[in-house]
Amino acid sequence: MSDFKNWWTKSTFFILLLLITISGTYGWGKEGHYATCKIAESFLSEEALKAVKELLPETAEGDLASVCSWPDEIKWMYKWRWTSELHYVDTPDFRCNYDYCRDCHDSSGVKDRCVTGAIYNYTEQLVTGYNASNSVVKYNLTEALMFLSHYIGDVHQPLHVSFTSDEGGNTIIVRWYKRKTNLHHVWDSDIIESAMKTFYDKDIDVMISAIQKNITDKWSNDISSWANCTSGEDVCPDPWASESIKCSCNYAYRNATPGSTLEDEYFLSRLPIVEMRLAQGGVRLAATLNRIFDPYPPVTQKLAYFGNIQRASHTI
Ligand SMILES: *[C@@H]1O[C@H](CO)[C@@H](O)[C@H](O)[C@H]1NC(C)=O
Ligand SMILES: *[C@@H]1O[C@H](CO)[C@@H](O)[C@H](O)[C@H]1NC(C)=O
Ligand SMILES: *[C@@H]1O[C@H](CO)[C@@H](O)[C@H](O)[C@H]1NC(C)=O
Ligand SMILES: *[C@@H]1O[C@H](CO)[C@@H](O)[C@H](O)[C@H]1NC(C)=O
Ligand SMILES: *[C@@H]1O[C@H](CO)[C@@H](O)[C@H](O)[C@H]1NC(C)=O
Repeated sequence: MSDFKNWWTKSTFFILLLLITISGTYGWGKEGHYATCKIAESFLSEEALKAVKELLPETAEGDLASVCSWPDEIKWMYKWRWTSELHYVDTPDFRCNYDYCRDCHDSSGVKDRCVTGAIYNYTEQLVTGYNASNSVVKYNLTEALMFLSHYIGDVHQPLHVSFTSDEGGNTIIVRWYKRKTNLHHVWDSDIIESAMKTFYDKDIDVMISAIQKNITDKWSNDISSWANCTSGEDVCPDPWASESIKCSCNYAYRNATPGSTLEDEYFLSRLPIVEMRLAQGGVRLAATLNRIFDPYPPVTQKLAYFGNIQRASHTI
């Protein structure tokens, strides 16, 4: 018993230490991923929703959003360490553009190992695996779904597609109001958390509703072009990554040099960008899952999901 207790205390301490060291170095934070997936859920076709629920692990209790941070939780484990470079793509310093062939590789140069490569990879696994008989399915499709949902969120976080030398803003130390942090963390979490405190009752669901309202309102004419890929493609992360590096240059890096203090002016001008990226990530995740699991929806249904009409009527 005391051995167990000792082990428990040590492991807990170790895990906490790891979490503290690692948290916020990649990805939208928990809230950002939750929001992206929650928004996506509301745009899933019935067929796609059914498929998603079949693939979700039991712990999700039928809610995709509840497992969308899973890839962040596991990436520091030995078994999963290889996934940690799939959360982002580094682009050449100050070029402000992205090119799959040039940029999508890991730090040792292995091709396709970056966030856009991972999005192609897990989409492909779901497309080929979903209706195939079990004996042919090579990959765990539950994992594929969780990785895909997470990485589509990540590729929309501007600083996940940004300069190599500052590690996507991780080495740019700034102050967020009074607190010391880094620029990457500001975009993963600080902007969202401050918004929740200032505008949304400290409640992510209130923030999500506000974003949803703008999707069906202000952005209703944009969502079909957001959701679209050129003909025949199930997923198209390259233009999404190009948008992110543009946002990084125009908004994230601008006026955020090392040592600067970011306050109201930065917060209030960047928050709309963050909210739009969460909206785009959600709409595109839904569109991708709809194309994967429901490739031939009736025309009326198609319009209902991405036309001027309101959200799908089912609730989750
Ligand atoms: C594709 O997915 C498989 C299964 O998770 C993994 O072994 C492989 O490394 C992945 N490759 C990329 C580029 O994501
Ligand atoms: C698939 O992956 C999930 C999450 O890692 C795991 O819980 C489940 O046991 C795996 N299924 C199989 C058949 O290996
Ligand atoms: C929604 O749009 C309005 C009008 O442009 C804007 O003021 C507001 O900040 C937006 N809210 C969200 C959550 O996107
Ligand atoms: C979506 O893609 C199709 C096929 O490439 C194209 O015909 C259509 O105009 C696109 N729609 C939008 C809104 O971009
Ligand atoms: C999978 O099979 C079902 C039943 O045969 C079919 O309705 C559905 O369209 C198929 N889905 C895909 C993605 O091929």
